[in-house]
Amino acid sequence: MLGTNVGPVEGNVAYLRPETAQGIFVNFRNILASTRAKLPFGVAQVGTSYRNEISPRQWLMRLREFRQMEIEMFIDPREADACPGFEKVENVKIRILSREAQRSNGEPEELTAGEAARIMPKYQAYFMAKELLWYSSLGVPEGAIRFRHMMPNETPHYSKGNFDMEIMYDFGWKEVVGNAYRTDFDLKTHMGSSGKDLTFAEEGGKVLPHVVEPSFGIDRTVYAVLLHCYRDDGRGWEWFAFPPRIAPYLCAVLPLVSKDGIPEKARELYGELRKRFDVLYDQSGSIGRRYARCDEIGIPFCVTCDYETLEDETATIRNRDDCSQVRTGTKDLAATLEKLASGLIPFSAAGDRVA
Ligand code: GLY
Repeated sequence: MLGTNVGPVEGNVAYLRPETAQGIFVNFRNILASTRAKLPFGVAQVGTSYRNEISPRQWLMRLREFRQMEIEMFIDPREADACPGFEKVENVKIRILSREAQRSNGEPEELTAGEAARIMPKYQAYFMAKELLWYSSLGVPEGAIRFRHMMPNETPHYSKGNFDMEIMYDFGWKEVVGNAYRTDFDLKTHMGSSGKDLTFAEEGGKVLPHVVEPSFGIDRTVYAVLLHCYRDDGRGWEWFAFPPRIAPYLCAVLPLVSKDGIPEKARELYGELRKRFDVLYDQSGSIGRRYARCDEIGIPFCVTCDYETLEDETATIRNRDDCSQVRTGTKDLAATLEKLASGLIPFSAAGDRVA
């Protein structure tokens, strides 16, 4: 652990936490008393952790101070095979690199979450399927995601088995989510050291819950999203293909020219749209340059007001991904953009194609 001195004098040594998880275990009794939770239940925490990394490098990969999101899922070990909601993910296909495959330089095997649940706790397979779905919704392709069964010598001491989610980076595969089966290791250890009873009164007697833990590295996630959404495809500028839900703005409103009442009309539209979602207004420079600037920060849609807007309350929407445009009514524009963002309609259905 990373040690430091608290206060102005030497000797008052403190240690910075290497994972957020322990805060959850230390507070286990308080959580039970304040929430009256019943097994199974999960506790999630987001926070900063610290490790004395010998050689910090690779930008957001190897840091001494980093951010984590951790879920400690407390389950009754006698019911480890029950996992509410599992049926929603049981057919999700996940690629698992087994220990045997690692020893023989083999390839990952594709299993459904239902099949994976035969070789690991069902909750672990559940979280792995959810991780795959979540990371691909952030723009990381499924082919750049695999789950590696950690070899015995690299499995953390507290885990009965880790299947780490790895992402393919520009320098190779790297762990982004640790999936550990922590069993009752932590609660048992805290119980032994504190003398406090951390068992759980369940039907059929007291149990010490087991823990399944997905532990997400946030900085590495940001790196993966930037890397996999980056495009340099001959457009003349680089751009980001962020999915609409994580783009910095859902759309930009641009007046075609800075005269003849068009900026005023565009400002009016901007005011309406920003009541519903994040919108950028930009009227400086040529329209082409403004489209390029919007692409560069990954804004999915650009709404342009022109002379026609003044006449018939229509505007164009430009699609960042292929630069195509449609013309549509401004009255329902917010609803149209929301439908586009959630994938309810294809871009071609958002209006009349502009040649
Ligand atoms: N809690 C697991 C880890 O920080 O790696």
